[in-house]
Formats: sequence, C-alpha cells, structure tokens
Amino acid sequence: SGPRHLMSIADLTPAEFSSLVRNAAVRKQAVKAGQTPPSLSTSLSGQTIAMMFSKRSTRTRVSTEAAVTMLGGHPMFLGKDDIQLGVNESLYDTSVVISSMTSCMVARVGPHSDVANLAKHSSVPVINALSEDFHPLQTIADFLTIHEAFPSSKPSVPGLGLNGLKVAWVGDSNNVLFDLAIGCVKMGVDIAVASPAGYGIPDKMRQLIISSAEGVSSPGKLSETMVPEEAIKGADVLVTDTWISMGQESEQQKRLKAFAGYQITNDLAKRGGAKEGWKFMHCLPRHPEEVADEVFYSPRSLVFPEAENRLWAAVAALEGFVVNKGNLLK
Ligand code: CP
Ligand code: NVA
Repeated sequence: SGPRHLMSIADLTPAEFSSLVRNAAVRKQAVKAGQTPPSLSTSLSGQTIAMMFSKRSTRTRVSTEAAVTMLGGHPMFLGKDDIQLGVNESLYDTSVVISSMTSCMVARVGPHSDVANLAKHSSVPVINALSEDFHPLQTIADFLTIHEAFPSSKPSVPGLGLNGLKVAWVGDSNNVLFDLAIGCVKMGVDIAVASPAGYGIPDKMRQLIISSAEGVSSPGKLSETMVPEEAIKGADVLVTDTWISMGQESEQQKRLKAFAGYQITNDLAKRGGAKEGWKFMHCLPRHPEEVADEVFYSPRSLVFPEAENRLWAAVAALEGFVVNKGNLLK
C-alpha cells in the first residue's frame, strides 16, 4: 500500500489525533526548556520537503519551513508562479514527478480534490496545508492551544481529557471549522455553530462531522443555529475565522451584509452567556469585522499562542507522517 497522507482530521483515530497533539506539546516543552533531543535535528537530514502553495500564507508557510529546518531537512517552497500546480500540467504528472525527488509534499490548494489527487498519485506522504474543505494542521495547533488553556483534571486518562468542554463557532462555516468540528467530536468536546442562513454546514460535511463519532466512547455533540447567542451559551471557547476566505473576494459585499451581527464582542459573549472564564481563538489572518479589538487583543485571547502552536503542530505532523511513516502511535 502507498504512503499515509494527512488530508483531514477525519483520517485519524481519536488516539492518533491526541498523540499528534501530545507530541506537539512534548516537542514544544523540550525545545523551550533547551532540552531538544539530539535525534530531533537529524530526523529529516538529507531530505527535501516540497511546499506547494497555490494561495498566500503566513503561518502555514513559516511554521512548515521552520519545522522542516528544526528536523534537519530542506524546505523547498514552490509558489503558484514557480511550478505548474494544476496549470499547464496535470496534477497526476506533477505529483509523480515531485514525489520522485522529495520525501513529502505539503500542499495548499483551492478545491480539496486537488490535494486528494496529489495524494492519490504520490509515492510520498502528502500533508494538506489548507484546502477549501479542511485545515488539519490548524486543528492540531488549536487542540494544543485548548489543551494548554484547559489542562486535563485527569492527565493519566488516554486522549486529551477535554471531555465536557464546549466550543462555540460564530461566523462562516468553512474549512477551518470543518476539521475543528471533527476534532471536537473525536475529543468529546461539544461544538455549537452559529452561521447566517446560507452559510451553514453543507449536508455532506455535516454527515462527515457526525460520523466522526463512530467508535468514540463519549463523542462531542454538534449543534447548529442561526442565533449567535444560542451557540455561545455555556461555551468555554469562542472561535471564529474570516467571513471572506481566500477565493471568495468577489462576494465581499454580500458576505459583509449577511454576517452583520455575528461579530464577536464582549457584549455578545455576555448576552449569550459564555462561561465566565471564556477564551477566544482565531486561526488568523484576522479582519476586524469578525471580532472586535476588545476581544482579539484581550487577556482572553489565545490567538498568538495559537499561531505559535502551528510550529509545534507542523513538527508533530512531519514526525508522524514523514519520519515515522504514518505510524502515529509511536
Ligand atoms: N492560519 C493559517 O493557516 O494562516 P496562513 O494562511 O497565514 O497560513
Ligand atoms: N478560511 C480561511 C483560512 C485561512 C487560513 C481561508 O480559507 O482563506
């Protein structure tokens, strides 16, 4: 069988997902304490990781390049004007060629089928660095962030010990939400989603999120509403993302109108009845319309540790999928 790829959190068992998050935490602690295991910096030595990005990126690009460097490999950034990613050459040809010379492809694409096609024909692991449907590296970092903000009362139990927490997503139902919701269901974290009419979770995606509960002993529950206050009630973490994702720029006016009233503010959190110590998360890049400065730059906000955690998520994903060849429980 071929290499194992990371397309979505849906590809992972709960044990595998928690293991990636825990490994990210372990690496972060060790490196910060100046106790980097000597083997870490040679695990990708002599290996090239192709980074094929058809869209802009700050965090994903920097974290992946930095993580590859930390592991002793060479990150090769290939932007949309550098290679023929789905333009002037088929994805099949691109995938066969690049995978014949590298150890991994980390790809940011438009349609999810593009990254799935790269994976299908690749002889090396492919890591989804954001598609229109999923953003698994973000979800690993988000759960590391939640794990740090809500340390388990039972650290000895398997998993992350986050059962019973509630996440409220207020805004667009997009790629970042879909993997986050799958992660929540698998980790026993309830997730309530508030989106305006026409911007809710598509049926097929809802089925995938709900089916992530299969085989999970106490899965998190998904609920959906059009009323932000309803989603926020009793939430520990409020999360949002831009209302206008990359590729949706022409819908800007329409979307700004549709999402009026969905901005996360202190007042909305209060009206909705969020838990007293509620935290705020956002994958970034952020625009002021979806969250007010009073929240974004407040002590409740985890956004900068969350962004930094992208580095540790990338380290864990590269170790899991490239160094350990998809044996994530190692
Ligand atoms: N959160 C995230 O993926 O950011 P970039 O688009 O800057 O990589
Ligand atoms: N939903 C955003 C996430 C960017 C990291 C987008 O797809 O543009």
